[in-house]
Amino acid sequence: MIDKIKQYQKEFEDRIAAIGLGDELRQLRTDFLGKKGRVTQVMKDMRELSSEQKREVGRHINELKNWIENQIREKTEKLAGSSTQGTENVFDPTLPGRTEARGSLHPITQVMEELITIFISLGFEVAEGPEVESDYYNFEALNIPKDHPARDMQDTFYIGGAKVLRTHTSPVQIHVMEKQPPPLRIIAPGKVYRCDSDVSHTPMFHQIEGLMVDEKVTFSDLKGVMNIFVHQIFGEKTQVRFRPSFFPFTSPSAEVDIQCVMCSGKGCRVCSQTGWLEILGAGMVDPAVFGSVNYDPEKWTGFAFGMGIERIAMLKYGINDIRLFFENDLRFLSQF
Ligand code: DAH
Repeated sequence: MIDKIKQYQKEFEDRIAAIGLGDELRQLRTDFLGKKGRVTQVMKDMRELSSEQKREVGRHINELKNWIENQIREKTEKLAGSSTQGTENVFDPTLPGRTEARGSLHPITQVMEELITIFISLGFEVAEGPEVESDYYNFEALNIPKDHPARDMQDTFYIGGAKVLRTHTSPVQIHVMEKQPPPLRIIAPGKVYRCDSDVSHTPMFHQIEGLMVDEKVTFSDLKGVMNIFVHQIFGEKTQVRFRPSFFPFTSPSAEVDIQCVMCSGKGCRVCSQTGWLEILGAGMVDPAVFGSVNYDPEKWTGFAFGMGIERIAMLKYGINDIRLFFENDLRFLSQF
């Protein structure tokens, strides 16, 4: 039996020298000191020995056990590259890694993507335009001449020369029509800027512009498209109404209201007891706008619409302060 113990010691010595990983070390310990390990087995076999032999063999086996424990401790410390006593600070490669906290898309991006998907399904294509615009594209070509009172509707950031930060996405209509002959169907999502700030206004916000031009496009087409879009964003049962309005680039013009999403039209604080919420401006493209891009207004007709994405997102999620979107507070953002 003592020979066996010596043989085990030799075997252990060889194996521990060849080991590189924490896993293998754990296995080695099990093989020797585990329930069915070599050392444990010898201790069980000792039952058959006389008490004198027991004392002799017991001494050897205890020495081996302590020696193995020490060897394992030393090896563990060496593997961890640390000189600390014990095994508390040992690097354990078998532990699961710390996972990265995952971000998510900003609610405005999410609503923007949802809107784009709806309009793409209706045959619209996405167009883009610059955020720094000339006075011509932002106003003039859209039938808003200098000194026209309609310029007061938008609190423009003038940035020198005849340049402005675009106050709406409508100028993209002009860029597209200058480059492309009719028929066309486009949406233009993007950032716009106005010198205004309170619970429902921020100096930068997002809009989506829409434009469809073809032969015989009518106001009914506009109504049809608006109905589909509202039903997809706010639900099938949401009612839509058109109210006469004025925009220089459309005639006739309308503002589109939806049944209040908070009170289902009964009247509440959010809808000022009217039961309706304004969500966008729209209308039939004014012939003067076609004139700016040399489209023949006798042949082509079209509708256009423009909406604020923050407003849609606020109504969709019941958010009462637009500034929350831009404060980067994770407690707010992580809810989406
Ligand atoms: N550009 C307008 C605004 O920012 C919104 C708008 C109204 C766009 C009517 C349109 C339209 O295309 O037909 O207030």
